[in-house]
Amino acid sequence: MTQDLFGELPAELTRENLMEGAMVLRQFALADAGQLLNDIQQVTVQAPFRQMKTPGGHTMSVAMSCCGVLGWVTDSRGYRYQSEDPVSGRPWPAMPESFCKLARDAATAAGFAGFEPDACLINRYQPGAKMGLHQDKDERDFSQPIVSVSIGLPVAFQFGGLKRNDRPVRVPLTHGDVVVWGGAARLRYHGVLTLKAGGHPLTGPYRYNLTFRRAC
Ligand code: SIN
Ligand code: FE2
Repeated sequence: MTQDLFGELPAELTRENLMEGAMVLRQFALADAGQLLNDIQQVTVQAPFRQMKTPGGHTMSVAMSCCGVLGWVTDSRGYRYQSEDPVSGRPWPAMPESFCKLARDAATAAGFAGFEPDACLINRYQPGAKMGLHQDKDERDFSQPIVSVSIGLPVAFQFGGLKRNDRPVRVPLTHGDVVVWGGAARLRYHGVLTLKAGGHPLTGPYRYNLTFRRAC
């Protein structure tokens, strides 16, 4: 181990490859987490967390908000991106600078330089909340990666194949971890197992997730 010579962890020690095009950047967002949480608070004063309904009429267990030029919504008409928050009828709050910078830096560290997200989905998980296996496929340009930031309580992330039935790998994610997937991995199924009750010094009973996308 030569890390003491450099005074910081070499990238290859914090970067964990899941499969071609997909990796975990361990604790990449750790130093920024306080700022990110302040900015989540600012955004969600304007666009409060809400539990949306799927086209099938099922209420999602994860509470969501968005910021950026576009926000992701689901309702009886389907899944889509739109420029207005359906609750307020107003444009989504602007993406905070701390969000843009982190998303760009993480994408670059993962080998996707030039990523400029126009949408950020903010997920809030309370104990019992989960997200079933799905693909992120409502975006226009699949050459752009997805950057996904975990804040607060730990959870088990699932990263699967290109078919729903492909058996996923289970990836434990903790506060500050960033997952990036693009290229050959861009359309892989992924999801989040049920959040267990706990207490985090910065987020209390919650896990937050920021998912950055280039939607259009
Ligand atoms: C998502 O796939 O949109 C959320 C992933 C996560 O919460 O880690
Ligand atoms: Fe997703």
